[in-house]
Amino acid sequence: MGLALAFESSCDETGVALVENGRRVIAAPLFSQIAMHRPYGGIVPEYASRAHLEKFTPLLSEILTAHNLKPGDLDYVAVTTRPGLIGALLVGYQSARACARFFKAPLIGVHHLEAHLAAVRLSGHETPFPALGLMLSGGNSAIYELKKPGDIRVMGDTLDDAAGEALDKAAQILGLGYPGGPRIEERAEAFALSRGITPGHENNLDSENIFPVILKSLRRDKVEFSFSGIKTALLRAYESAAEKNIDALAFFYQERIVEHITRNLSHALEIAGKKPVIAAGGVLANKRLRRSLEGICRKFGVQLLIPEFRYCTDNAAMVAAAAQLYFENNLKSPYSDVQSGNAFLSA
Ligand code: KG4
Repeated sequence: MGLALAFESSCDETGVALVENGRRVIAAPLFSQIAMHRPYGGIVPEYASRAHLEKFTPLLSEILTAHNLKPGDLDYVAVTTRPGLIGALLVGYQSARACARFFKAPLIGVHHLEAHLAAVRLSGHETPFPALGLMLSGGNSAIYELKKPGDIRVMGDTLDDAAGEALDKAAQILGLGYPGGPRIEERAEAFALSRGITPGHENNLDSENIFPVILKSLRRDKVEFSFSGIKTALLRAYESAAEKNIDALAFFYQERIVEHITRNLSHALEIAGKKPVIAAGGVLANKRLRRSLEGICRKFGVQLLIPEFRYCTDNAAMVAAAAQLYFENNLKSPYSDVQSGNAFLSA
């Protein structure tokens, strides 16, 4: 067994969840700050911390009132301790710590990326070990090798922006609003349809793509992401175009990003050998990307696991899913330790 109360506040989602065995979600109220940050075109860290502070109490009350929890009822309290916005993390950590004291339960700290990758457990899959973890969100673009719980090795990270950030900034340039990923996808789909390409069918429009292939000369034995160059290329193309075909720009931009991610995953599979792939983070909502990743995993003959969409973006249930791995294997989480000054800042 493992009844847990979990907290997530690493970025712009305030989440609390009551989860059984790290697999069955009993309740997972979530407050998304997207509307609050929209006027700024991105996340304002100080506003994020304040919103977490205001929202944790009502979300927690919702769970406590509905489930009548008493001290001794919980097996543990789980919380994201890193990486993330420092102020935002601190609010979550203090809330979780107070609950752990009140419920007389141990506190298990979790790495945010480990939580994203453990989210597959919420849809009936086990986290396979060893595995590769592809993490694509508004703040991260990286591939990890997961050896066992608490043993995550970065195979390659981004040199500059994250994939979601590149989509958000592109949407800002094209005047499409925030968050950008879904809007770029919508416009790209409209363009594909206008050219007779139906969802699921590969396009043959590569020769028309005005954007450069990202990190074209990246060696096969390297995993490395970069999105700032293509973002600048988009800005230039947009500013210099007499007639601005937003749908076409969105389509070709998204194509380059999808190609770059897929190529990096292929490199990772060549380097690490065939291992199941867990892909997580908000960018995985993108259907074009999912199809491309499915294709590459099929080619390598490896399993691709993607959490259900509602657990792809930040949420607290995934924090319990990761913490349960420590709980049920009787392991000490290396992310529970926040005593060493800058622990919240270190990945
Ligand atoms: O995991 P997430 O909630 O993490 C952060 O808060 O960082 O992911 C948010 C990111 C945003 O950058 C958003 O534009 C992107 O995920 N996103 C998408 C789609 N839906 C959300 N990117 C591409 N296509 C989508 N359909």
